Amino acid sequence: MDLVVERDYPTLSRAAAEVVTDLLMAKADARLVVATGETPLGLYRNLADRKVRGQIDTSRLRIFQLDEYLGLTLDDSRSLYRWMREVFLEPLAIRDHQVTRLPGDAPNPTAACRAYDHEVEQAGGYDLAILGLGRNGHLGFNEPPSDHDAPTRVVTLSPETVHSNARYWGGEDRVPRRALTAGMKQLLAARRVLLLVSGRGKRAMLARTLEGPETPHVPASFLQRAEHVTVITDRDAMPMPAVSFPGEV
Ligand code: GLP
Repeated sequence: MDLVVERDYPTLSRAAAEVVTDLLMAKADARLVVATGETPLGLYRNLADRKVRGQIDTSRLRIFQLDEYLGLTLDDSRSLYRWMREVFLEPLAIRDHQVTRLPGDAPNPTAACRAYDHEVEQAGGYDLAILGLGRNGHLGFNEPPSDHDAPTRVVTLSPETVHSNARYWGGEDRVPRRALTAGMKQLLAARRVLLLVSGRGKRAMLARTLEGPETPHVPASFLQRAEHVTVITDRDAMPMPAVSFPGEV
């Protein structure tokens, strides 16, 4: 695992944008699975700026949805697809045919998860997984306990995740209790993983991700065995003694 410690959230976002831009330059038809949540928003804004300036070409990308609440239609304001559309797909001019959804509104969600895994496999796997870190160590909605080989599937959200995600939707009673998530197996097989971690509230879980034993109780700890993982964190989330930056006393 490569660990990059940035001064703050804006520099974290710029560093992440450099990584993604380098990949897009090398492989314009890359396959990306992309997180929602708050942490990657700065990265997505940065990429959108680069798109406006003509510095990146997104016309051949293939995008896979990371997670979705079960039972929500696409136009529900809580739909994670809708969130991804607003912060990532539209600003980057990515069209519908470039996107594979995890359909929370499918009549048979388990079959839809199998179909999703089949599509990922047929495409040749993900080139890049852009992930955030759940406060309980989840990746996507791979809630603890999730083993390293867990497939894409329907899950029940932990009370901690329901509580933590209530801030997005204005209260716990607005958070669906079940969800679909891309599997640990698919995520860990990505050619490259970019894990973004920001803020003091993630510090304890980042320590367990980086250094703790690999355990289903901290699904993110399995990143220690993945092929090419870059963790970009800001100082607030950093568990080790404070790092100093040039120009600071
Ligand atoms: C949410 C999402 C994840 C996200 C994570 C962290 O529950 N399911 O995809 O990466 O938790 O979110 P945030 O970046 O807002 O802290």
